Amino acid sequence: METHGKVAVAGATGRVGRHVVDVLTEQGCEVVAISRSAGVDVVTGDELAEALRGVESVVDASSGASPEQHAATEFFTAATHNLQQFGAQAGVKRIVVVSIIGTDRFTAGYGAAKQVHERAMLAGPIPATVVRAAQFHEFVSQLMDWGRQDGTIYTPKMRTQLVAARTVGELLADLATGRGPAPARGSNGGPILEIAGPREENLVEVAGLLAAHRGETVRIEPVSNPDDPDGALYESGALLPGPHAILAGPTFQEWFTGQADEKA
Ligand SMILES: NC(=O)c1ccc[n+]([C@@H]2O[C@H](COP(=O)([O-])OP(=O)(O)OC[C@H]3O[C@@H](n4cnc5c(N)ncnc54)[C@H](OP(=O)(O)O)[C@@H]3O)[C@@H](O)[C@H]2O)c1
Repeated sequence: METHGKVAVAGATGRVGRHVVDVLTEQGCEVVAISRSAGVDVVTGDELAEALRGVESVVDASSGASPEQHAATEFFTAATHNLQQFGAQAGVKRIVVVSIIGTDRFTAGYGAAKQVHERAMLAGPIPATVVRAAQFHEFVSQLMDWGRQDGTIYTPKMRTQLVAARTVGELLADLATGRGPAPARGSNGGPILEIAGPREENLVEVAGLLAAHRGETVRIEPVSNPDDPDGALYESGALLPGPHAILAGPTFQEWFTGQADEKA
């Protein structure tokens, strides 16, 4: 069912949240931007009741600063509780939640925190739809920063079908306004959709493209993390989309070329 109600975007300044705001605004939808920089905090609940007043749908694209399991679990638990409770009081009808492909296979780390996030959202009271996305094109730069050490960038040995955050944002916006595709029943018992880019990408290649564009002379080396109990999942393809996933461009190369042209 299509709706023309107000949509709140939690994480409105983030990699994917900013695109949800742009797409909805381009569609003429009334959008409420939720982020600490906008004065609204999903963890403490500050100004959240006011922000959700009159809102029909919420897109939860928020994420805390730390990917560490404990900190991320605390973030998602508090944020979900507040979005669900303040949202129910405000009469919100649906929540669309961003998660990660393969997250249900992880036993620890950020993947485990995302499972807590999904479960808490699906427990309601507001009905939630989970969109599991592949790693964003925009995330490669963050991975490079995490792995940078003395002229070498250590990237995880990870099979990934990178997707543009804008492409994920378009799906989230459609779901928020009731125009998205029907989700399937997922492994977590709730409605789930998967979205990924058009092809598997090689992290060393794409990191190399970014480094060259920035004029950096660095060595890029793929590494495994033997201390990570889920390390094998990254290399086995657990993060790759399933057969029913939505696959949509641009490829990393197309996205990257567009970015470079825009900045030229
Ligand atoms: N990055 C990826 O490749 C990827 C792939 C698949 C799925 N996902 C999922 O997509 C979601 C968004 O990820 P992202 O990479 O786009 O995140 P991000 O760029 O780190 O952005 C996080 C957003 O959350 C906001 N935020 C943080 N703390 C907040 C608080 N206490 N109250 C209100 N807003 C807060 C931030 O704004 P302020 O700092 O101004 O508060 C920012 O707008 C996450 O659930 C993530 O798991 C990410």
